[in-house]
Parts: sequence; C-alpha cells; structure tokens
Amino acid sequence: MCFLQKAATNNAKTMVDATIAEKFDIKVILSSTSSNTIRIADLGCSVGPNTFTSVQNIIDAVQNKYLQSEGPAYRIPEFHVFFNDHVSNDFNVLFTSLPPDRQYFAAGVPGSFYSRLFPESSLHFVHSSYAIQWLSKVPEELLNKNSKAWNKGRIHYTSAPDEVIEVYAAQFAKDMTTFLEARSKELVVGGMMVLIMPGIANGIAHSDDPVGLMFNFLGSSLIDMVKEGLISEDQVDSFNIPVYTASAREITKLVEKNGCFSIEIIDLTLSRSVASANGQDCTMHMRAGMEGIISKHFGSEIIDELFDRFHKKTEELLYLLESRTKEGSQLLVILKRK
Ligand SMILES: C[S@@+](CC[C@H](N)C(=O)[O-])C[C@H]1O[C@@H](n2cnc3c(N)ncnc32)[C@H](O)[C@@H]1O
Repeated sequence: MCFLQKAATNNAKTMVDATIAEKFDIKVILSSTSSNTIRIADLGCSVGPNTFTSVQNIIDAVQNKYLQSEGPAYRIPEFHVFFNDHVSNDFNVLFTSLPPDRQYFAAGVPGSFYSRLFPESSLHFVHSSYAIQWLSKVPEELLNKNSKAWNKGRIHYTSAPDEVIEVYAAQFAKDMTTFLEARSKELVVGGMMVLIMPGIANGIAHSDDPVGLMFNFLGSSLIDMVKEGLISEDQVDSFNIPVYTASAREITKLVEKNGCFSIEIIDLTLSRSVASANGQDCTMHMRAGMEGIISKHFGSEIIDELFDRFHKKTEELLYLLESRTKEGSQLLVILKRK
C-alpha cells in the first residue's frame, strides 16, 4: 500500500460504510434468490493482509445495516468471499494467511478482471482497491519507433508528449469499458461496486500527477544507470509501466457510456499530509509494487542498485509532492447496478 494510500483509505472506509447503510438494500438483493448468502468479490486482492481488512469492513457494515433494519430476530445472512487476482498471484500465501476467526466462506478466483470471472447475476458486492490503475497491457504504439507515441527515454507518460498520454488514456478507457461490461453481467440488480484507485483532479495536467512524479524518479534513476553503462538505452526505451491515473471526469464518462450503473459516490479523497511521508516509505512501496515487472524486464540483479538510487532521489525531491497532492490523490467510486 502506497504511503499516499493509507489515510485516504480510512476516509474511504467511512464513506463506504455510510453508503452501505444508506443504499445497500439487502432484502431486495436477496429477494431474487432462495439463498441467504451475500456474495462479495475483491478484485486484485494480492496476498493480503489489506484484502482481509477490506472484506471484513464490508461484512461489518452489511451486518450492522441488517441488524438495524431487520432486528436480531432475523437470520443474519452468510457471506461468501471470492478473492481474485492474476493466475500468477501466490494464492497459497493468501489462503494460509486467511484470518482463522473469519465469519465467511472463502474462495480464490484466478484470472484477469478484464474478463468475465463469475456467472451472470451471481455477485452482490464487488470491491477493488489499487488494482484497476493497472492496464491490461502496454499499448503497442509506445514501442513503435515510427509512431508519434514512441516513448523513447521514458518509462511512463508523466512529462511525456500528448501523443503518449493519449495512447495510455485510450488503453485505460478500453480496459475500463471491458471491466464495466463484465461486472454489469456479474452483479445482481441493486448490487454495489466500490473502486479505489489513484486519481487525479479534473483538468490537472498529468505532469502534476503525484504518482507520476514517483515514476519520474524511477525513470531518471534508470537513465542514470544507462549513463553509467549499467543497463542499455534500448532496455529503458522498451520498458513502459502499464499504470494509468484517471480523473473523476474520465470515470464518469465511461460509467455513463456503459449505462448499467448509477454513480452513488465519485470523489477524489485527500491523502495523508505529505509532511509525514518519507523516502523510506516511498521506496518500500514503490519496490513492492514494481519489483516484479522491473526484474522481469531488466533482470533481478539491478533491483538493489535501482532502489538505492530511487531512495536518494525521493529523499531529495519529496517536497515536490506537496503542491501536487493538495486536491487529493485517491479516487473513490461507488456504483450501484441498475
Ligand atoms: C497494488 S496491489 C493491491 C492489493 C490490494 N487490493 C490492496 O489494496 O492492497 C494490485 C493487485 O492487483 C492485481 N491486478 C492487477 N491487474 C489485474 C487484473 N487485470 N486482474 C486481476 N488482478 C490484477 C495485481 O496482481 C496486484 O496483486
């Protein structure tokens, strides 16, 4: 979890609890089935422990709502939780760390959430935190020397020409369209979906994206290593991070185009004061998130050196983050299946 993510997530929890209390109509949801089971999916769950906290928060909020609206005389629903991630995710670690005192049935669901993962109308609640900023693939134009979007000398779109940004934005729109189509089939009418992801304020230039600033530090650390002959220029030119930070306006447009969901909340939430952020935290979280794809492309032998350099840059330049996070850096989107 990124250092910008933690406090903002607490904010999100309050809003998710309130929305469940107000808008998650358990009776209507369960009326279409003879079962008394609420089915929840966490998409892009990784190996824990954040996923366990997220699903427990949802279950607590649903149980509270149920007790308040129906009274203790009614049979509290049972919960079935589906933990989803790529097939390469270490589901063994996930399963062995499941809370022993959990009050839900657990299952793992392998596969990309940019495809159907569940039967039609089988889910009541979908949650996804810090996962759908990952694109399904690196857009091909970024690697094509004949394209205006060839991303030479950079590893991301922050500070890149408009053509590069447009290619990233188009891939995000395509992926999000697929994501919404799949979820609209899987969720029952009245079902809810909570999406938490890095976000950027409407109208703010992508060069001012705080997440992008971190990728710039990573990119310039790699370029320094090219200059010292530790890696080749070609290796950097052919590496692009498939992550996109969207604005509320972009998400709204895609949800409206899909047409199956009402937007209950879409909000750019404030992150923890950057005054308490430090280079060590930034480095730890960047390494946790990026080590896999960097090792795959450059080889694992460069990792320690790269993140030492990244750490130094972050310590020196962290003050640049302050002006970029005033408007918030986390998007909370709560949708209801119409
Ligand atoms: C930064 S982690 C977030 C983990 C956890 N949700 C949290 O909030 O701490 C992102 C996770 O999303 C997963 N992910 C990214 N793209 C995915 C996709 N298309 N389908 C399924 N999982 C995906 C990654 O494998 C990774 O485990």
